[in-house]
Amino acid sequence: MLGGELNNSSSSNLDSMTRIWKHMVNLNANTVVTPISWAQLEPQEGKYNFSLVDGLIKGARKYNLHLVFTWMASWKNGMSCYDPMWVKEDSKRFPLAQKADGTPTRVLSTFSSNNWKADAAAYAALMANIKKFDGTVHTVLMMQVENEVGILGEPRDMSPIADREFDGPVPARLISWMVAHSSHLVPELQDIWNKAGHLTAGTWEQVFGKGMQTDEIFMAWNYARYVNHVAAAGKAVYPIPMYANAWLDGNGAKPGDYPSGCPEAHVMDIWQAGAPHINLLGPDLYAGNFRTRCRLYTRRHNVLFMPEMNSDAGGARNIFYAIGRHNAIGVSPFGIDHTPSNGPFHTSYGLLEQIAPLLLQKEQTGSVVGFVLDTSHPDYDYRMGNYEVHVSLDSIFGHTTNQGFGIVIQTGANRFLGAGSGFRVMFTPLTPGPKYAGIGTVVQGNFLNSKWVPGLTLNGDQTDQGRSWRFASYEHSIETCHVYRYD
Ligand code: DGJ
Repeated sequence: MLGGELNNSSSSNLDSMTRIWKHMVNLNANTVVTPISWAQLEPQEGKYNFSLVDGLIKGARKYNLHLVFTWMASWKNGMSCYDPMWVKEDSKRFPLAQKADGTPTRVLSTFSSNNWKADAAAYAALMANIKKFDGTVHTVLMMQVENEVGILGEPRDMSPIADREFDGPVPARLISWMVAHSSHLVPELQDIWNKAGHLTAGTWEQVFGKGMQTDEIFMAWNYARYVNHVAAAGKAVYPIPMYANAWLDGNGAKPGDYPSGCPEAHVMDIWQAGAPHINLLGPDLYAGNFRTRCRLYTRRHNVLFMPEMNSDAGGARNIFYAIGRHNAIGVSPFGIDHTPSNGPFHTSYGLLEQIAPLLLQKEQTGSVVGFVLDTSHPDYDYRMGNYEVHVSLDSIFGHTTNQGFGIVIQTGANRFLGAGSGFRVMFTPLTPGPKYAGIGTVVQGNFLNSKWVPGLTLNGDQTDQGRSWRFASYEHSIETCHVYRYD
């Protein structure tokens, strides 16, 4: 999915969508990620209005785009603002989480079956409608269930019912899941459990120790279970992939500074145990340490998808790493509808869209690498087939660029295809035979309708006189390289 998430309110009315569909096509995107609001879908209890959903699906089809809907319902960014008025005005029936001083938050409680049942009923109705309208065409690829759940401002819900649960035993289902997976839990959870004595029964504080880490684990379990109820109701009528997204914790931030209970990487086991109907946990990856976060979210067999990320030039470079290195199934810069149509994602998606068929075929065999280079990470080495492949920031006549990104795919024993900008590649043979590898023929080109159309043959300065396969920083290109060996 070469996607983009719209600003929260952009698809609340179909009139504004014509410009946006065209914008997405101009960006070379293929998928639009956009909200469906519970409040707009079910303005009166049990009375649904599907006209917006159907209109969005029709609009996407007209422009040959796919959709991922984000179900904005009980929670959005650790708050509750997309619940309908009939929910908002009845906090007796639809209770709220509470702060330590007993005052209410504007966050629906995870502990109320009225809350999740109302949410799940609406979600099931939505999924039934999508199935009816789209069950054979599949314009809608995937659903995000809620948005950046978790409680903001407090490490956990402090209401009397939450306190009772917190003082009660850790559910046997969670404990037995942890026991069954104990050899490969994420180390952060493993440490917490070990430090508290690796107990297999007890209250939350006995099993996980006293402190905010336990508040967070407790909330993660309860959010996961609630989201699972909603996802299960939707999957019962139309089982397409469903995921939950995470507002990532920042440097030194404590649970409650970010939504406590969100599917953070350090509680992904708790989410996997509590929400088996959720197929993947997606990081909203605005944070600087992009590479580390990608790695953390590919543990525990989690498939990488970034529902949100920066829509700037840095984001447009980082996606080559996420896709080429971690087989990300999709990326989706946030607020895409207000980015320039000739901006950095236009260029990056233009390259990725062309190489996608080859990339999808080759990533199954491990013959793909992806990277993003800068002055603190100027080079990487990879093993590809019979070669050690050295990728570094491009440099010519003593001038080295300071940003580079790309993907390199091995297409034959001595043949490679690359896409990107600002990097150079050199090869070292790893098998018996002639000791050195030279850059033979380099051809720039494009895939038109999946067919390779060669353009310039690069030589001279463009290959540093045959010393390296170059992707100059003044352009974004797709190039093939035929390597030869000599003594
Ligand atoms: C994260 C949220 O999930 C989005 O809906 C949006 O509000 C962005 N933050 C804004 O950066």
